[in-house]
Amino acid sequence: MNNFTYHNPVRIRFGKGAVASLAEELPADATILMVYGGGSIKKNGVYDRVMAVAKDRIAGEFGGIEPNPLYETCMKAVDAVGTAGANFLLAVGGGSVLDATKFIAAASKFDGGDPWRILSEGAEVASALPFGTILTLPATGSEMNGNSVISRRSTNEKLAFGSPRVLPVFSILDPETTYTLPPRQVTNGIVDAFVHVMEQYLTYPVGGYLQDRQAEAILLTLIDRAKAVKNDPNDYDTRAAIMWCATLALNGLIGCGVPGDWTTHAVGHELTALYGVDHAQSLAIVLPGVMRHQRDRKREKLLQYGERVWGIRATDEARRIDEAIARTEEFFRDTGCDTRLSDYGIPESAGRIVAERLEKRGVKSLGEHSAITPSHVAEILKLRA
Ligand code: NZQ
Ligand code: ZN
Repeated sequence: MNNFTYHNPVRIRFGKGAVASLAEELPADATILMVYGGGSIKKNGVYDRVMAVAKDRIAGEFGGIEPNPLYETCMKAVDAVGTAGANFLLAVGGGSVLDATKFIAAASKFDGGDPWRILSEGAEVASALPFGTILTLPATGSEMNGNSVISRRSTNEKLAFGSPRVLPVFSILDPETTYTLPPRQVTNGIVDAFVHVMEQYLTYPVGGYLQDRQAEAILLTLIDRAKAVKNDPNDYDTRAAIMWCATLALNGLIGCGVPGDWTTHAVGHELTALYGVDHAQSLAIVLPGVMRHQRDRKREKLLQYGERVWGIRATDEARRIDEAIARTEEFFRDTGCDTRLSDYGIPESAGRIVAERLEKRGVKSLGEHSAITPSHVAEILKLRA
């Protein structure tokens, strides 16, 4: 197992009625700007529940953060921070609202010029406003990590940054807030979490025996509960399991001491920026292609995954790998997520265009061996027509 440092200070308040714990979590001296999305929290009662416990504490509100949050919108929110005199942010919503809040927190304190530099040049986040979150969509793990992905409309870019300074102080997770999610978003969440696990698991063995089992446990639970949530969307324990799976899929734990391959996310972000597919849809397109293209380099882990997650035990190795890839794609489709470029009307030229964009941005290679070049990315997307 590789050496690692793990430090995750995010306090989680999980369970039925957890929104009420907001009263205890908000710092006494906080002047708060609440940040939310397009209005789902007003329809499903989460807004009212926040107000019931924190109305007097909230100095201002900023709504209208869009899915795949825009830099342009976040910069308006930075102005709202100033207007409200806020020294603490409260994000209420899905991953997009949380990610936007992280960027707003960093941009509000940034003194290196245009805060876009944090994304485009990796400019250092020397300080950020503190913030807490109330998560209503299990998917991204943003509630317990220091990552954020922001898009820029004017250039059609979607870029990520990460910093320990944008880890939430606390995150409140009440599975009951997820009952109102449209089926497409439930599916998206399951697929996103599944792929986060795969990208920290499907590389090569390094003796991370525990991490492998942790990853497989999350995959197996997601597969099992994906069916259950379709049959009984209001089953609390199913919603709770999916929510906790998504958090643990990307809070750094399963990635400790093991290599990662984030090719699927890197390519997926380009597909979203260029063609507007949902984040999870982009991943469902790309991952089976990465698995096929990299089947030799990932041979041992593909066999392990096939056997332990899908129970594949045929004698012929090549067939076992084929089946593991096919079962993965089938799982995405059964869960309600299409997996081919053509399913979304994305042209075959996407491969070449994405490769060119990566090259232009100076991306030389991706993957656990840094062996996946932009031209390999074009080949991967060709497999996904
Ligand atoms: O905007 P509102 O009205 O709130 O509606 C949202 C939105 O339309 C709706 N929604 C959320 N909770 C709801 C609800 N509708 C009904 N009931 C509820 N309880 O769902 C829609 C999608 O929300 P969004 O936040 O965009 O989805 P998600 O959580 O999947 O976030 C996706 C974003 O996160 C980024 C993605 O790239 C994408 O921009 N990611 C962030 C990561 C991170 N920070 O670590 C990692 C991920 O890999 C990912 O890249
Ligand atoms: Zn993701």
